Amino acid sequence: MSSQRKFFVIGNWKMNVDKARIDNIVKFMSAASLDPNTEAVVGCPSCYLSYARQRLPDEIAVAAQNCYKVAHGNFSGEISPAMILDSGCEWVILGHPERRTIFKESDQLIAEKVAHAQQTGIKIIACLCETSEDREEGRTDDVLFGQMKSLAASISDWSRVVIAFEALWASNTGVLATAAQVQEALAKLRHWLRANVSDKVANSTRILYAGSVSSSNCRELAQLEDLDGFLVGSAALRPDIVDIINARRPDVSSLIAHFDRPDGRRA
Ligand code: PGA
Repeated sequence: MSSQRKFFVIGNWKMNVDKARIDNIVKFMSAASLDPNTEAVVGCPSCYLSYARQRLPDEIAVAAQNCYKVAHGNFSGEISPAMILDSGCEWVILGHPERRTIFKESDQLIAEKVAHAQQTGIKIIACLCETSEDREEGRTDDVLFGQMKSLAASISDWSRVVIAFEALWASNTGVLATAAQVQEALAKLRHWLRANVSDKVANSTRILYAGSVSSSNCRELAQLEDLDGFLVGSAALRPDIVDIINARRPDVSSLIAHFDRPDGRRA
């Protein structure tokens, strides 16, 4: 937890929304009081980027969930960073664990996408992940540092990049990562940045955690030294996302309790 890095929460809708569902999410996010000290973003399917952008309050940014490595051309089914920007959206998620594991995107392809996206000025949430096999077979560090090395080689402007680490073994599996496990992984990534990029980048780059973040575990995790926010999947479809965006804001109920002292005096 560092005051020089603004807390960042992205609610990734994945392929789980339609217009009616977006309308519902827009409704509860617009009605909520969101912590102005949190940068809030939603990850939207490409066909709804403009739809979501037009309906969400300006304070909530919109990210595409993927894009290709060139501006235009004969690449059916793909979208480019230029198209995302042209739709009024500022962010793109690259290397999401589902792109890496289900669609077999390689470190090389993701690095090429990151390099092209950087040239366009779009802001990037660059993801890394640890699978249960990586963990069981004791190769977590090699895998994470390998992914990080490949990403870092294609990043020229770190001020436009947020790193997201996902413990895939704790994403919708019924197993939760402990605060100590999350802190250990994020600290290793920050240390890698310090050793291999620079102190400035290590101190200023936001590193997020992903893996079943919910309104129940976000407050404890939000206090971790090296955690700067969350990439949220399933809870992003529910009003839980509001609690997660507000995870660092003092709990209103405890403030009320504080003011409501038995002697009737205000604290
Ligand atoms: P989850 O998903 O919060 O449902 O685990 C996170 C993600 O993969 O974006």
